Amino acid sequence: MLGTRWDADRLVNLLPGRVRVQVDEFFEALALLAELRDPRLLYALGPAGVRGMLLKRGKQGAPTRIRASHKAHFNWEYPADQPEMAELYARAKQGQWRAEDLPWSTDVDPLNPEVPLIPSSFLGPDVLREHGVRLSAAEELKFRHSVTAWMLSQFLHGEQGALFAAAQVTEAVQFFDGKLYGATQVMDEGRHVEVFSRYLDEKLGRLYQINDNLYVLIDSLMTDSRWDMKFLGMQIMIEGLALGAFGTLYRQTREPLLKQLLRMVIQDEARHVHYGVVALRDHIRDELSARERAEREDWAYEVALLMRNRFMAYEIHEEWFPAMPRARWRRLVGAIPGMNEFRQVMFSRLVPNLREIGLLTPRVLPRYERAGLTRFFGGASANQMTAESMLEGLDRQTIEDAA
Ligand SMILES: [Fe+2]
Ligand SMILES: [Fe+2]
Repeated sequence: MLGTRWDADRLVNLLPGRVRVQVDEFFEALALLAELRDPRLLYALGPAGVRGMLLKRGKQGAPTRIRASHKAHFNWEYPADQPEMAELYARAKQGQWRAEDLPWSTDVDPLNPEVPLIPSSFLGPDVLREHGVRLSAAEELKFRHSVTAWMLSQFLHGEQGALFAAAQVTEAVQFFDGKLYGATQVMDEGRHVEVFSRYLDEKLGRLYQINDNLYVLIDSLMTDSRWDMKFLGMQIMIEGLALGAFGTLYRQTREPLLKQLLRMVIQDEARHVHYGVVALRDHIRDELSARERAEREDWAYEVALLMRNRFMAYEIHEEWFPAMPRARWRRLVGAIPGMNEFRQVMFSRLVPNLREIGLLTPRVLPRYERAGLTRFFGGASANQMTAESMLEGLDRQTIEDAA
């Protein structure tokens, strides 16, 4: 049995082309399953891992059918039972917007260096060179077009997951005010699918397949029958990931239509995470046993690390540098400045939210310390900030960077 990732990398490098990729994929799936040492985690993520990483369910070019099972929670008395959710519902109705009102007539040329989708510094020309990637100016623009289309494609696939998860959670949540609020989130996510899909189709002319790791997360949340796990996964973890990614791209892009589109989406997403924090905070404090809470603490930590370590953009690797060993590609992706910013923004949102809902207990804190996440402990959680303050923070950082 090959004991370490390094051994696997060395073996993989001795193999020819396509076989090499398949063997590397297999070892990666094994590494994922090996990381889930806790049997409860393996139970929650393992089957989805097999479907996503080995069977490649998301890449078969056919609709995927995933069985969803959860209990729908009815209440025939329609209580006003959660004022903070009622307030979010009122704000969400007020904040509705139409995709048609974005400036779609903007002329977007993905290869125009004057109005870049992402600036050259996002990828870092030095970082590319250090990892043996040499591109002409024209190739580099095409590469940036591919990377932007890849990111937006993953946003789109994530939004489809969010749309279905929002619908399921609306059925399953026990707060009646939460159900009314949830209806607005379903509408929001539908609109997000609409705008990302339209932008990719009309402006970038590209759509990438779903990343295997994103597929695994979505699949495991669809099949988990516990509503609070769906909630934790979707409203806190994936929405946190999305806010990190949207925030980074919003700050970095110079393309005005994309910037405006992301601004509108971020405003909606800020409400979604706020809702997640409010619903889970009360539930985890009042309803769960110590054992159930410990399981969620472990799950959240492991999923946060999975999200940090595993979005390796292999779809781009296969298209652009199929001959490059995947281990070298992983090192390159790990060093790209834009990806590092995304990880920073993601954790600066995620960690305070985990604290607020009561999952950063003394039992798991040392693990976060070891992973270098201590500096985010004191940040503002989603219920302590508005979409406006979030966007202001991103704008301020952009101006400081330019100065
Ligand atoms: Fe969304
Ligand atoms: Fe959302």
